[in-house]
Amino acid sequence: MTRMQELCRAAGTEGAVLLKNANQALPIQKGEVVSVFGRIQLNYYKSGTGSGGLVNVDYVVDIPDGLRAAEGIAINEELYQTYQEWEISHPFDKGKGWAQEPFCQEEMEVSDELAQQAAEKSDLALVIIGRLAGEDRDSEAVKGSYYLSDGEEAMLRTVRAHFNRVVVLLNVGNLQDMSWDHLCDAVMYVWQGGQEGGNSVADVLTGKVSPSGKLSDTIALSLDDVPAMKNFGDPDKNAYEEDIYVGYRWFETFAPEKVKYPFGFGLSYTTFAWKLVSFQETVDDFSVTVAVENTGSVPGKEVIQVYAGIPQGKLGQPSKVLCGFAKTNVLQPGQEQEMTVTVPKNVLASYDDSGVTGHRSCRVLEAGEYLIYAGTSVRDTQIVSQFVVDELKIVETLTECMTPKIPLQRLHPKMVDGKLMPEMEVVPQRTYDLMERIASRRPADIPFQGDLGIKLKDVKDGKHTMDEFLSQLTDEDLACIVRGEGMCSPKVTLGTAGAFGGLTPHLKELGIPAGCCADGPSGIRMDCGTRATSVPSGTLLACTFNEELNEALFEEMGAEVNKNRIDTLLGPGINIHRSPLNGRNFEYFSEDPFLTGKMAAAQLRGMHKHGVTGTIKHFCANNQEYRRTFISSDMSERALRDIYLRGFEMAVKEGDARSIMTSYNAINGIWAAGNYDLCTTILRGEWGFTGIVMTDWWAKMNDEDEEATVKNTKAMVRAQNDLFMVTVDALKNTQDDNTAESLANGTLTRGELQRSAANICRFLMNSPCIEERKKTNVDGGEEDDRPAEEKLDFVIHEDTVLDVRGIEGTRGTSTIYTVLTIKEGTYELTVKASSEAGGVAQIPVTISMRHHTATFSFVGTGGETVEKTSKISLDQGKEYLKIYFGQSGLDLQELHFHKISDKKED
Ligand code: BGC
Repeated sequence: MTRMQELCRAAGTEGAVLLKNANQALPIQKGEVVSVFGRIQLNYYKSGTGSGGLVNVDYVVDIPDGLRAAEGIAINEELYQTYQEWEISHPFDKGKGWAQEPFCQEEMEVSDELAQQAAEKSDLALVIIGRLAGEDRDSEAVKGSYYLSDGEEAMLRTVRAHFNRVVVLLNVGNLQDMSWDHLCDAVMYVWQGGQEGGNSVADVLTGKVSPSGKLSDTIALSLDDVPAMKNFGDPDKNAYEEDIYVGYRWFETFAPEKVKYPFGFGLSYTTFAWKLVSFQETVDDFSVTVAVENTGSVPGKEVIQVYAGIPQGKLGQPSKVLCGFAKTNVLQPGQEQEMTVTVPKNVLASYDDSGVTGHRSCRVLEAGEYLIYAGTSVRDTQIVSQFVVDELKIVETLTECMTPKIPLQRLHPKMVDGKLMPEMEVVPQRTYDLMERIASRRPADIPFQGDLGIKLKDVKDGKHTMDEFLSQLTDEDLACIVRGEGMCSPKVTLGTAGAFGGLTPHLKELGIPAGCCADGPSGIRMDCGTRATSVPSGTLLACTFNEELNEALFEEMGAEVNKNRIDTLLGPGINIHRSPLNGRNFEYFSEDPFLTGKMAAAQLRGMHKHGVTGTIKHFCANNQEYRRTFISSDMSERALRDIYLRGFEMAVKEGDARSIMTSYNAINGIWAAGNYDLCTTILRGEWGFTGIVMTDWWAKMNDEDEEATVKNTKAMVRAQNDLFMVTVDALKNTQDDNTAESLANGTLTRGELQRSAANICRFLMNSPCIEERKKTNVDGGEEDDRPAEEKLDFVIHEDTVLDVRGIEGTRGTSTIYTVLTIKEGTYELTVKASSEAGGVAQIPVTISMRHHTATFSFVGTGGETVEKTSKISLDQGKEYLKIYFGQSGLDLQELHFHKISDKKED
């Protein structure tokens, strides 16, 4: 096993959350035979769907495989075979590709007879429930998505009726309804654990590793109890009326009785006792030292969580907020470990967006008593100490930003008879003129000097300043440098999401390299089929509550990213789990911004050890996939800063983030990718960020009160969202953006473009791409070096159309033809295809020949036939032509080879 595999496996076990374990159902004892129910045992979900799940892997370990490999455990093979046989007539439904995969699979009916036969062989039944959701596709409050399907419920009831011990495993990306949990003895969220998932699950089921994961979200009794659900799913405007009261901040303050399993909760096979050793306070911080003892009979780890009860003051506060945590090492029975959690007091400050404290736009600690709690979940805590703030302290003086212009309401606590009750109040509205702010802060132009012979490396080596270097860039260079290319640009590692920087001949001449970015977050996505490691999902990794483990795992990820000649992985995803239905929750960590920020910082630190980085995304408030490019997330400035931006701020300040992706949505009416206050005033001005900001793929941009479009690079550059991702050709302005036109009419300045060019160049200069890289036009997919057979499928003349209709383009499959090329040379290869999917679906297809590969990335065409062209060089002679589908849902029609030169290009 490689270190990467070991760490994936270890993370998979540490993130599994055991919620219930009655009747000593777990761990599985040595010598036991386990009966595994649920068809998903044959198709473990390693991740959710969409860009964050498209890692091509060498293998995925299913749960039965993991159990078979465990020492002393056997599974009921007869039952397994029954599932296998049933699957032949009920094949796994892969769906139609991008965002169209089913949430769940049809379940096999378990008859009383079958359950009885199985129960005669084993005492323990394992029932696996699988769920999918992902990018472009939220979960739904329906059976088979948030709720059990009828088939699953029937299976569970039948199994319950026949077995002594019933354990349910949830192989899911999102939280599920749990109202059925009385039907089992034990239940464990094993999430989507990447390619090593089945091994991780086996380790934790058999007790090789005792569970130590803790919920990174609250599980409510009912979905209706989640406050965001009132507005979630709106097609245009999503009002964040619950304000800062997200997740446990809502439940613990206003509705503790509505919680099924609290935030931070998770069981072990052993028991722990903890006691306070000391509480120390300085002017700036406080430290809680606890001793944790393993009081049970098997080794295990425990997480101690520190919460603060902030005085209600004038701002109003949740009853508790997480402000620190620490995880023990593996403690042997009887062993004790002391741990200290130190918390800067300023972490507890809140943003005053109304001036109610007398300090509008400041982060303040209001006067009063701050209670400090420690414990093993948000619910299971004790007050360990308190400190007093005598008079209000201004922690930071900031600038009003991103406030709504439309009337909004938000929740606010009011003390009624000694109890906090939720009330609505009016959200403070904008008091400044954004366009005036932008105009008054425009950077000066650097005068154009022509070619001075300065290369970017000279700036890196300290021989010239960035300004001197940039003075050589023409207006056209500047317009080109803010355009990324993709997907699957041949200028960088094949099959990756994008290239940026030195993409045109002149930018290249100036020594600007082409930077490469690839999805993320749970492994490297290379659509041409190149294999990479699929690591556990973000939610699982947050549930580990283990920063060191995240850092170590992403150190390995950094090595893999670097090895594949990629400069930044498009992840971690760090949006807040505002609702259990958001399709991309699996990519994100938690409902809590502090935990989110800590995890993001740890992963970035890991990747930075290899000189590469991660692009934290989606900045910000991407909390609903339905109509994600149309929706405005409307909220107060306090909710924005204290909840939705907080994780990003921590990733920048503690994790030294160097790359950020803005989101598809608007925030209070201004789309993220053209949002000046988001990308400039807050990110760079207040947080000191000096890296690059890129759009999400084909994201829209607008100026205030303007319709958002993908062409508005003027708004984007002015906002200091440096890169538009992605165009087909940066030089040709295939996106037809408005940069040149805006420069000409003065709505955009050279200075603004130069500012983004500097950000991009600084990023590239400090990335591995600044050094010479090997050529990357290799087919990373399955090697196919079998000798060409006698039979020929096609002959390629100077102008040949190959009819390739009728291939079933299923994700991960390839079709191979034998072809004969009559003459070597450079050809234009045009691919004609259509797809029924919608506009932002990503459907790649890779055409590989002996030495040359081209990946064509289609977006959904709504059924219309479209063409894409790429230049490739062909050798004379016989060879294989391989068509590899990185995603399902493309109807390929023809490949057209048209010779344009006798000479082969490099
Ligand atoms: C997703 C991003 C992803 C990008 C490139 C977009 O559809 O929202 O998270 O990084 O595509 O694949």
